[in-house]
Amino acid sequence: MNGYQKDFLPLVVYQIYPRSFCDVNGDGMGDFAGIESKIGYLADLGVNAVWLSPCFRSPKIDNGYDVADFRDTDADYGSLDELKQLFQSFHAHGIKVILDLVANHTSNRHEWFIEARKSKDNPYRNYYYWAKKPLNEWQACFGGSAWEYDEASGEYYLHSYAVEQPDLNWTNPKVRQEVKDVVKFWANLGVDGFRCDVLDQIAKDFSKPDGNGNGEKLDEYIHELFGDEDLRHLFTVGECWGISLEKYRQTCAEEKRELKCSFCFEHMLVGQNGQFEKKPFTFDDFTGKVYEWVAMTKDDLLYPLVLENHDRSRIVSVLGNDKTYRYESATMLATFIYLLKGIPFLYQGQEIGLPNPHYDDISAFDDIETVNYYRAHRGENHADLMQKINFGSRDNGRRMFPWDENVPTNAWLTPHNRHGEINVKRDRASKKSVYAFYQKLLALRKAEQAFIYGDCNVLFSTSGCTAYKREWKGKKFAVICNYAQPTEFDARVVKGGKVVLSNYGVEEIGERLTLRPYEAVVVKCEK
Ligand code: GLC
Repeated sequence: MNGYQKDFLPLVVYQIYPRSFCDVNGDGMGDFAGIESKIGYLADLGVNAVWLSPCFRSPKIDNGYDVADFRDTDADYGSLDELKQLFQSFHAHGIKVILDLVANHTSNRHEWFIEARKSKDNPYRNYYYWAKKPLNEWQACFGGSAWEYDEASGEYYLHSYAVEQPDLNWTNPKVRQEVKDVVKFWANLGVDGFRCDVLDQIAKDFSKPDGNGNGEKLDEYIHELFGDEDLRHLFTVGECWGISLEKYRQTCAEEKRELKCSFCFEHMLVGQNGQFEKKPFTFDDFTGKVYEWVAMTKDDLLYPLVLENHDRSRIVSVLGNDKTYRYESATMLATFIYLLKGIPFLYQGQEIGLPNPHYDDISAFDDIETVNYYRAHRGENHADLMQKINFGSRDNGRRMFPWDENVPTNAWLTPHNRHGEINVKRDRASKKSVYAFYQKLLALRKAEQAFIYGDCNVLFSTSGCTAYKREWKGKKFAVICNYAQPTEFDARVVKGGKVVLSNYGVEEIGERLTLRPYEAVVVKCEK
């Protein structure tokens, strides 16, 4: 095990989406005071780090991923002093703070862009990409051409996302220095790390017809950004959609001094055709992808264990069963992923098994990608289109977090249609509390180093069931997870073992166990 596996594998990260987490001042949006009021809740759950999605000044065209000032907070959430106070409170509870670094683009309201579009010889012009005509056919992620004509200065600028999110020109050393200064600014305020938004897009390859990331300078830029000695302690996780296993080794190996790790999303795309369409899948399509990536931890790399985030659907609705087996499937999926070798990332709401909500009308949606998709497909059968939207919209994870049955009447986004039924208060009062299960799961992970540092070996993976072993300093555990159908499981492999976690309340394991739908059992093995 190398240095940074030792330092970072104990992390358990909880992602907070500030706009929807907890509203204390009653304006229909979350705020820093709300987050502060829930630190106890997070500590009780067993997390030791939080990742705050962007809380910087922003017109919120893309909900904060369009930053207008990297060094100031958005007034809707609170002041910079309040945020600093929040850092202290988290630290006092032993919880590290990870901020979102959106380095590929800014808001068009950022002063750099306001300056840049003033004239072709403005000192900030070169902070962005400008061209007399589009340099290629690139499409923006939220639809339409990635090149937007700017009337005032008579040229096109590049925006990989919304028109209001111009891409920063990383070939310009001044831009690279600016972003590094931003990193240092927050690091000096005590921030422990960064989640780096669409980081593989900072280096472009304009000759590629179908994408704009992973240019040849990528590693150089990342090293320049994070490679300094005084930034070495930072935990950094990239959002690199295009990363391959081979590339991962180049970018995330300790000696490279670039990123500590990067999200890999392949397993989260199982069951989906693009963002909005369902696709048939088997359980081992999912587990197989995860196992493929987890294998790299044998080579001292760090792997983020993730099921949900603010861009994805709720996992119980995609891979689980959010009707009959909501508790079982939410807890089984959590057991499967979080006892693997890597760094658990939880997204707000996952710990109570929140499913996707459902609406019949587009007016219940706000997300720019969803709304643009709806517009582009308007001619289709309305019910079919709404089914797709309900399935894949990024708003699935962005509704106000349901703390109790009081549904907010002024929320910035239509509340979850099951808010009254599925909320923290009810979950915690229930015998089948997903939150309570997560607590046990994370406590087990913390108590047994095998789950943190131990080798991870897959015992088997089929379309209906899977099992793997964790092993560390003579202690061995088997994690057995069943999918939707009952499975006869030959339990001789774990004979004599003691059940340490079960989502069906199993206390003993015989020779043969019929695993029930979405059953998960963790056994401390004799041998
Ligand atoms: C990332 C974010 C997403 C955002 C996009 C553009 O993928 O997770 O929410 O829209 O980058 O910043």
